[in-house]
Amino acid sequence: MSETRIGGIAHLNGAATVPGDKSISHRALILGALIRGRSFIGNLSPAADVATTAEVLRSCGGAVRPFDAGRVSLDGAGPGRTLRSPAGVLDCANSGTTMRLMAGVLAAHDLTATLDGDASLRRRPMDRVAGPLNSVGAAVTTTAGHAPVHVVGTPAPVGMEHRLSVASAQVKSAILLAGLNAQGATVVHEPLPTRDHTERLLHACGADLASDGEAITLRPEPLDPFGITIPGDISSAAFFLALAAARPGWRVLCRGIGLNPGRTGILDVLSAMGAGVEVEEGPMAADVEPRGDVTVTGAPLHGITVPPTLVPRCVDELPAIAVVATQAEGRTEIHGAGELRNKETDRLAALVTGLRALGATVEEIPDGLVIDGPVRLSPALLDAAGDHRLAMAWTIAAALVAADDGESVIVGAGCVAVSYPGFFDDLAELVSGSR
Ligand code: S3P
Repeated sequence: MSETRIGGIAHLNGAATVPGDKSISHRALILGALIRGRSFIGNLSPAADVATTAEVLRSCGGAVRPFDAGRVSLDGAGPGRTLRSPAGVLDCANSGTTMRLMAGVLAAHDLTATLDGDASLRRRPMDRVAGPLNSVGAAVTTTAGHAPVHVVGTPAPVGMEHRLSVASAQVKSAILLAGLNAQGATVVHEPLPTRDHTERLLHACGADLASDGEAITLRPEPLDPFGITIPGDISSAAFFLALAAARPGWRVLCRGIGLNPGRTGILDVLSAMGAGVEVEEGPMAADVEPRGDVTVTGAPLHGITVPPTLVPRCVDELPAIAVVATQAEGRTEIHGAGELRNKETDRLAALVTGLRALGATVEEIPDGLVIDGPVRLSPALLDAAGDHRLAMAWTIAAALVAADDGESVIVGAGCVAVSYPGFFDDLAELVSGSR
């Protein structure tokens, strides 16, 4: 397993352009491959997870053609009419989004397929997607609730009303994708609003889709092909923004990042802790997704409570928030984040182990963390545990150790490629260019 050494940095003041948003990239690939006619995507995420979705679509006959760096053209024959049974097992690698969204797509095609993944993905819950897809007429079986997931799709899914017990954009999206060629309306009720990238893109393609903040109603309509330039990934930018927030006088500008309200919880959290957060909204990405430039300036921080209602808006940023909390005066509490136990690792348990190794004061609660700060972090041996967001969280924590105190070692940090292959290069450039 590779070891990456990271020392404390003395100053941070610069700009970074992070790659395209991973969540939007998955959806754009899937919808572009399904919709009749030619669609175009610019600034596609270079994440390994996104390449996995492209490969799974191709294995089922999807026409996904890269034609330039980050640019893709796609052709489909319409939802329910495009894909066929693949020759072998569909390897979703580490990507939960690929497995869940594609389960929805495949369930609404006349085909048979098996979705599998790596050891981490095989530990993640898949019943939450199999249940609703079975109710629309497909036969989706899991392996004791997990991958491999076997799908016998139906070309004639039935529009149904679904009440989700967990707030999950992936499950919501799987159901909506299966509803694109359903007979009748598909209605999804969410316990809390989650990222609405699927809905926005469907709306831009002419879908008959209505949302009242709690229920989403989709009525099948022919969809138009689209062109989209994907905004930068706020979940990638979050690590640089969080690092800047943690030290008074440090500053990072991230240009052109996605500002979908379902994703901007990190900005609310950093601002509530006392950091300077400036947002300059730019033009919408082809009228689909808001984007803009965000500058975070460090300041003396204080602990806050992250309530359950905020969690879906910063679910992937909680590891970065936990690191920042170690530098804030007083107590930070994160509640309603039990879903972190179902991510690429049990992120609550892993954060406690790593933060304690760094010298932080942290307690694990069933659905969150309690962190008392500020503490002077010490160099540590940290395990990325195959989890890209942990690898990046450990990197910013190691960068916050005083420069004279020595380097931390991160084991297996190469997994950053799952969402952000250029993370270490971009961080090095940001640090070396800081004045
Ligand atoms: C995602 C939704 C979230 C998030 C994941 C990506 C998506 O998962 O954690 O990284 O693209 O829909 P859940 O929907 O399972 O909470």
